[in-house]
Amino acid sequence: MRGWMGKFRSLFLFGTLALILSGCGKDNLSALKPKGYSSELILDLMLISIAIMIFVFVIVMAIYAFVLVRYRQKKDDEDIIPKQVEGNKALEVIWTVIPIILLLVLAVPTVQATFDLADRSTQDDDGVLTVEVTGNQYWWHFNYKGEEISSSQELYIPTGERVYLDMKASDVLHSFWLPSIAGKMDTLPGENINTMYLEAYEEGVYWGHCTELCGPSHSLMDFRVVAVSQDEFEQLKEDFRNIDPEAKPETDSAVRGQETFNNQCMSCHAIGNAPMGVGPNLSNFANRERIAGILEPTKENLVSWITNPDEHKPGNKMPANLVDEQQAEEIADYLLQLDHTDVGEDAPTQSEE
Ligand code: CUA
Repeated sequence: MRGWMGKFRSLFLFGTLALILSGCGKDNLSALKPKGYSSELILDLMLISIAIMIFVFVIVMAIYAFVLVRYRQKKDDEDIIPKQVEGNKALEVIWTVIPIILLLVLAVPTVQATFDLADRSTQDDDGVLTVEVTGNQYWWHFNYKGEEISSSQELYIPTGERVYLDMKASDVLHSFWLPSIAGKMDTLPGENINTMYLEAYEEGVYWGHCTELCGPSHSLMDFRVVAVSQDEFEQLKEDFRNIDPEAKPETDSAVRGQETFNNQCMSCHAIGNAPMGVGPNLSNFANRERIAGILEPTKENLVSWITNPDEHKPGNKMPANLVDEQQAEEIADYLLQLDHTDVGEDAPTQSEE
């Protein structure tokens, strides 16, 4: 009976564990499924340290078990104090040298990787893209240096080449975390520019989070990185440069929405190439995977966001009730047809469970 219970208990424990842990590995948002150069390097380091830890654990447990069984006091043994070995030179040397060797095995690739990830030797080469990244409460802005284009919330990059990031924050500390392509980098307010690079192997939409507690909506400060082929990226730059913020939408409702938007919203937002404002650039809004980084892209959600943004992202800087319900619907009609490029539309994204 006990044996059966024991088996059932461990089955239950491992089953629950497997169930919980399987929730951690979302495609395109997982350090354990690397799809870029840096994330692969970082996973290798994790695997080396895990291997060393398992090695140490197994050896220590084996010695422990052996000593426990071999030297335990038996029934007829007399009470004796074992031979004391403190100050034994050979033992001291052994258990000092082995950890040093293990740490060296870990340190060499770690230092190598650290220098590799900080390498910026090709940044000034011809055709190499640098993006200025700015973290804001609670959205991200991307300015493509020298390209005269910019985007918010979704960063477009070409696959198969390094894209350098120059990163800062406009208000408080944020942290840019893109686990499946690269690692994590803090963005700081002020003059300090932190840097990293991205190199995506496959086309796709990769999910990122802010990982520095930056206010009440910190956990909602999501972004995407859309990796497209190099040809598509050239096309995207062309399309983005040609955005005409004054282009007339097709439906009357969207036309009225555009008018209201230009009067009420343009002091903070931008469409087309413009310097970063107080609010996100909304070029290509219709192609975004999420509204405000978090909401499913439906008209209903957008209207709700426009009329009461604080309900969805507490503490964000967009004012509520700037327009009435009717105007919000028209603005939604306008924004949901802002579709200035086809690039990245069919890039594979993570499956939602
Ligand atoms: Cu920005 Cu947390």
